[in-house]
Amino acid sequence: MILTNLLGVFMQTVLPISVYDKKETEGMMMNMWDQAFINGVIVDEDHTFKGNIYVKDGKIEAVSETQLEGNVKETVDLKGRYVLPGLIDTHVHSRDGGATHKEDFFHSTQAAAAGGITTIFEMPNTNPPISNRENFIKQVENFKSKAHVNFGVWGICLGDLNLGNISELDEAGVIGFKYFWGYAVDRANYQLVYNYEEGMENVIPPADDGEVYEMFNEVAKTGKLIAIHAENSELINHMTKKVKEEGGTGYADALRARPALAEQLTIQTGIGLAKETGARLHILHVSSGESVDIIKLAQESGYPITAETCPHYLFLTDKDFEEKGSMMKVYPLVRHQEDQDRLWKGIEEGVFSLVCSDHAPHTLEEKQRDLWSAPAGMCGVETLVPMMLNEVSEGRLTLHDIVALLSSNPAKLYGIYPQKGCIQVGADADLTVVDLEKEHTIRLDDLHSKSKVSAYDGIQIKGMPVMTIVNGQTVMKDGDIVGGPSGELVTPARD
Ligand code: DOR
Repeated sequence: MILTNLLGVFMQTVLPISVYDKKETEGMMMNMWDQAFINGVIVDEDHTFKGNIYVKDGKIEAVSETQLEGNVKETVDLKGRYVLPGLIDTHVHSRDGGATHKEDFFHSTQAAAAGGITTIFEMPNTNPPISNRENFIKQVENFKSKAHVNFGVWGICLGDLNLGNISELDEAGVIGFKYFWGYAVDRANYQLVYNYEEGMENVIPPADDGEVYEMFNEVAKTGKLIAIHAENSELINHMTKKVKEEGGTGYADALRARPALAEQLTIQTGIGLAKETGARLHILHVSSGESVDIIKLAQESGYPITAETCPHYLFLTDKDFEEKGSMMKVYPLVRHQEDQDRLWKGIEEGVFSLVCSDHAPHTLEEKQRDLWSAPAGMCGVETLVPMMLNEVSEGRLTLHDIVALLSSNPAKLYGIYPQKGCIQVGADADLTVVDLEKEHTIRLDDLHSKSKVSAYDGIQIKGMPVMTIVNGQTVMKDGDIVGGPSGELVTPARD
């Protein structure tokens, strides 16, 4: 069983005890439910028990070990399968708008539903970026008709460019704030510039530490997370130039060009700024073992620092490059076996509150380019849960760990617990039903994303999500998408 580190989480109100028998008594009105999910084995962070879940208007109205009397419009027999609080992927790039030829929200949320995810948090580096209230509102409108699952929307930190918009983004309901540390910004459309070189025209250079300090201060006032892409661009630019001049073309060269040190330097600076400003710092997609040690030390000192890692760092190493090629190129890069081992230990120790996909599709044509020119990122939202469930079959994780890493911890961290992250009376009826015996082979062609790019083609899985239930509605059954988009915006609770 893993430990849990949720430093910096607000005090949460707890719903009334969730397991009860809502028995009909004489003179009482007849129970009326929209859905009843019966004969399930309910799993939360600590308990497993046979039970039935009764839903009205998208919310859980009763959880009972015995079947209750009443009228039910739709009864779903779970036939003894495990039912988990709806699983959440906090790190998704659906490319909508901006690069809808790569992916869009309709497809990414179908992929999420197919993969047992009931809520995604959408990243803000879209076009337009989610840098102010107006763009946030437009994005929510854009997503509503396409969302097969529920969704939160990140706000972006663009330094001085939108320092004055942080508080309105908070009030509008962003799930947290993301800072792509070290990235330059296009002056015309505020898009991130991925391969910045000094002297580029119409480009705003990466923010200096003073500007970053002000951003941390501003986000600290909101109480929401400031989540950082942690890679030191100065070191990376210097090393990339050097390695390219030396003629390096292999994965070891790429690792020299984007060393683990780049991640560690930025994490160290981030921790310093978090200590100083009181901002709740969250480290995104941690890739190196040394970073785990740094984060752990900061957490032990009592600072509100949390972290996540992703399946590509947990299941791939540099040794896989020969077979997978640029398909496995992600930023930060996938590193060595020692890093992977330390990341898994970090999960066990509770250094990581959550695991997420960093779903970042590019076209197949782009991903087939050589290592220097292929863009970083691949699909992940559909394979996140299967890859993690396979570890339950392997005995490395328990189903309680899955609930913690993919549901209750993210819900608590982002301020949406107990609306989500638990199976309790009053919570949203978001549920993920899993079959630990079900075997499956991941095939690119079967993915629901627009661009079917993944390093997991051919991987065999034991343990699959077999039903995804969003606000009481079944949206995926046995791998098939059923029903249209009905997902809703999720916003953190306000004090
Ligand atoms: O590999 C990555 N791709 N890492 C990121 O942080 C961004 C992402 C993208 O947007 O393509």
